[in-house]
Amino acid sequence: MLIQVDGNHPEILLEQRAAQMLAACIQKVGGGGAIVPVSGWRSREEQQQIWSDTMAERGEEFTRRYVALPGCSEHQTGLAIDLGQATDEIDFICPAFPDSGVCGTFRRHAARYGFVERYPAGKETITNIAGEPWHFRYVGVPHAQLMVEYGLCLEEYRDFVRQMPRRVALDNGVEVRVLYQPATGAVTEVELPDACCQISGDNMDGFILTVWEGCA
Ligand code: DAL
Ligand code: ZN
Repeated sequence: MLIQVDGNHPEILLEQRAAQMLAACIQKVGGGGAIVPVSGWRSREEQQQIWSDTMAERGEEFTRRYVALPGCSEHQTGLAIDLGQATDEIDFICPAFPDSGVCGTFRRHAARYGFVERYPAGKETITNIAGEPWHFRYVGVPHAQLMVEYGLCLEEYRDFVRQMPRRVALDNGVEVRVLYQPATGAVTEVELPDACCQISGDNMDGFILTVWEGCA
């Protein structure tokens, strides 16, 4: 379910859990007013419009570096948010979100709230998108913590999880296991452990199982 990220920006929507965690992180770092949500959920039509407008205004090379093809943008999932530093003029495609001040503090806290910088500088050949220090993707706390700990972008993280089961200790002491299970055909049976767990498709050929130990 999509909800508003805050009352001051009613047009900007995210999936409920992502919106709640974003608000909590901004509050934690004292970023209310200084950190501005610029773009959240987009329909395919909106992504198409952004693509066409950017092509016309900034040309093809820029557009391919900074705008995902319509149908391929993670903004369409409601799990991605572009954030800007509050200034008089905010660039909609490339908002300034520096590493200093409250924006930098947000960046360093983001993983604890399940967000990662999705397109880091230096990983362009893997993500196929230019460095975007303003674009954060909600992946959930255990995954965000592992990605930051090992310095992985999402494409690398999928391979990392496939290699072997992974473990991460959350700030509250809870241990989380992350496991990969390949799909075995049209129907795959997954044996669920006797604990809180979540299963998600990996958009390739399998499933990622996240297990919170010690809770049933
Ligand atoms: N700016 C990112 C890549 C998007 O358009 O989804
Ligand atoms: Zn974005």
